[in-house]
Amino acid sequence: MEKVLVTGALGQIGSELTMTLRDIYGSANVIATDIRSTESDVVHSGPFEVLDVTDEKALFHTAKKHGVDTIIHLAALLSAKAEASPMLAWNLNMGGLVNALEAARLLDCQLFTPSSIGAFGPSTPKAGTPQDTIQRPTTMYGVNKVAGELLCDYYFQKYHVDTRSLRFPGLISYKTPPGGGTTDYAVEIYYEAIKRKRYTSYIAEGTYLDMMYMPDALTAIVALMEADPTRLVHRNAFNVSAMSVEPEQIAAFIRKKIPEFVMDYQVDPVRQAIAESWPDQLDCSCAREEWGFEPAYNLENMTEDMLTKIESSLSVNQ
Ligand code: SER
Repeated sequence: MEKVLVTGALGQIGSELTMTLRDIYGSANVIATDIRSTESDVVHSGPFEVLDVTDEKALFHTAKKHGVDTIIHLAALLSAKAEASPMLAWNLNMGGLVNALEAARLLDCQLFTPSSIGAFGPSTPKAGTPQDTIQRPTTMYGVNKVAGELLCDYYFQKYHVDTRSLRFPGLISYKTPPGGGTTDYAVEIYYEAIKRKRYTSYIAEGTYLDMMYMPDALTAIVALMEADPTRLVHRNAFNVSAMSVEPEQIAAFIRKKIPEFVMDYQVDPVRQAIAESWPDQLDCSCAREEWGFEPAYNLENMTEDMLTKIESSLSVNQ
């Protein structure tokens, strides 16, 4: 990875990954793109272009013009939004990915795109979900993710495009909100804990889902992209997770810092049904063995960091 094009660079992952990549590879070597522009570090700290990933020619020409050797394709709709607009999700998630893969094939680029716990479904084993197992998701987002994993494998096998991917769990971060996912509650809870000392969860008590703190997700992307390809038995996509948690557990750790924090529940049937169709806890042994995945954050140190960072960012912005 020397010169990188990032799509969806203003999203939850992109806004932090772009800055991390600019630190490592140099600002001029990370070309950030998104469907819109904003007043932000990503737009002002290095090259930025407005790019619609469903425009095949525009994606190809942007990658060609900058002479990139890597495409990090992040532009996509998350699960709850995809369920509300399935055709939009199909067109954006699949159309964008195939355009990114074609650009990677024609320009001989390495390609990363995230998969998700959403690539699993109700018939997948819930506990210790294996790397290789049943994938019959019941959401449009999941259908896109499984098709995306297969398409990336196809481009690797048929065209030798160096495709690599991670099945991300819910990603928790304090810089850019996720927006439209099923696991968003695990981000919102920290903001509401600081602002109102109270949170109403739309996911039911006792619903376990895998989660990971954003710094571990960023480290994992770079580690996988730089990994020795001869060690990779799998490619699209590796199970990764740092914790399996349910809402009450997050609340309990928040209460260690904010004892008066109160949580109640108003379950959203759509997002609850999506959450129940996903695994409780992934087996990440292939990621550990094939490229050394090792998350640094658990629920305890992530909660401390989230509360501290959100508190200081809210007080600066007051
Ligand atoms: N965080 C994502 C979502 O909830 C899962 O990959 O849609």
